[in-house]
Amino acid sequence: MVPLKTLPLFYLVASAVALPKIPLSKRDDILASMKRNGVLSNINRLKMQIAKTQSKIQAGFAAIERNTGGVHPAAAGMPGAFVATGSNPPLEKLTSTSKRATAPEPLTDAEDSLWFGTIAVGTPPQSLTVDFDTGSSDTFLPAVGCDATCNGHTLYNPAASSTAVNTTDPFFLQFGAGNATGFVFTDTVTISGLTASAQAVGASNHYSVDFEIDEFPPDGLVGLAFPALAVFERNPLFSTLVAQGTVPPVFGVKLAETGSELFLGGVDTALFTGAFRNVSLIEEDFYALNLQALDVGNRAVATATGVTAIVDTGTTLLIGDEQGVEILYSSIPGAKDASAIIGPGFFTVPCNRIPTVGITLGNQIFNVAPAIFNLGLLEGNDCVGGVVSLAGVPFWVLGDIFLRNFYTVFDQGNARVGFATPR
Ligand SMILES: *[C@@H]1O[C@H](CO)[C@@H](O)[C@H](O)[C@H]1NC(C)=O
Ligand SMILES: *[C@@H]1O[C@H](CO)[C@@H](O)[C@H](O)[C@H]1NC(C)=O
Ligand SMILES: *[C@@H]1O[C@H](CO)[C@@H](O)[C@H](O)[C@H]1NC(C)=O
Repeated sequence: MVPLKTLPLFYLVASAVALPKIPLSKRDDILASMKRNGVLSNINRLKMQIAKTQSKIQAGFAAIERNTGGVHPAAAGMPGAFVATGSNPPLEKLTSTSKRATAPEPLTDAEDSLWFGTIAVGTPPQSLTVDFDTGSSDTFLPAVGCDATCNGHTLYNPAASSTAVNTTDPFFLQFGAGNATGFVFTDTVTISGLTASAQAVGASNHYSVDFEIDEFPPDGLVGLAFPALAVFERNPLFSTLVAQGTVPPVFGVKLAETGSELFLGGVDTALFTGAFRNVSLIEEDFYALNLQALDVGNRAVATATGVTAIVDTGTTLLIGDEQGVEILYSSIPGAKDASAIIGPGFFTVPCNRIPTVGITLGNQIFNVAPAIFNLGLLEGNDCVGGVVSLAGVPFWVLGDIFLRNFYTVFDQGNARVGFATPR
């Protein structure tokens, strides 16, 4: 609980109703499962997620252009550049397949790594589970009348809600292999006792494969980024709560194998120690930061200019551009290019010498613990690294692999993100 003396009065009123803490669950933890069952059993799922992240972010860039008339620096086809601080040998390419730890499993063996909690929509309230995604800004749910793609999900029924209004605006959201379509409604949405009135909610009449129940265990998604990113061109849920005076414009997130939590309107001081190390946002659409360097063992191995890093709870890995990721791994003794075995963008590091990889933001190094960086054994002494590259993607995405190392504060009011030591 945040010390009361530091809280504005309107927050005290809200917390008298309920604590704005939302426990987050995972149906299954993809990263823990990789270590248990072997990397290749989950790799297809990860690849699907990477594609989903890529198109989600491209859709975000398009929304920013529509909403603001401006072009995000990372969308302008100027990927920025890395300069290696040392000269590194070319990476050995892994080709052996004989000693693999496991065999690939079919895609249908679904596992996920989505952080989800519960919201109540409508009057009287209808309870649905949602993925909380800091890499997008829209709220959408599967709705009554949806085709078979929504089977297995709890459906939102606007007809049963006295506060639901059909705006008649159709929506289309592209996510990797999938898209969600339907009509935008406004309705009352309650999250952990905090109520937003006339919140834009996409009532989906079609979900494609990324959102079907086997792939996506929560019912819907709540985007927690800024209004400029909203494809619906309407306020995101958190912005509505702020605009209606329900919470201050800040929230805290803890992502871990257990005890994950979203805390609206402040930070949960029980979940971190020490001070936040804050980094200013370069834009207020995504939580976008200026990436300054890549580090190995607390030393810069590459310096960056004009490289954007997006803080995204909706992505599992740490995703980077090809140039930067190549320099990073070629600076790690014994690292190998695993593209021939796993797929483009994947690399290994020696299992008995997992490096401490870090990202420099705001002139400070933020390290990824070796145990988190290591996705698990591929073969021999080669373990898969949690930083992967994506061709043609001119930005970095700081997903789970990064966020699990910190308690993160998303401070919209001060246009910054801060990272503290979790406990
Ligand atoms: C919402 O409005 C659209 C456009 O008029 C309509 O096609 C759709 O059926 C409506 N949705 C519901 C659930 O009434
Ligand atoms: C949306 O996804 C469906 C498959 O679920 C596909 O048939 C359709 O072409 C997609 N629409 C666009 C515009 O990509
Ligand atoms: C960093 O941000 C947090 C959350 O907004 C704030 O409480 C803290 O005072 C900030 N620290 C500094 C040094 O600005």
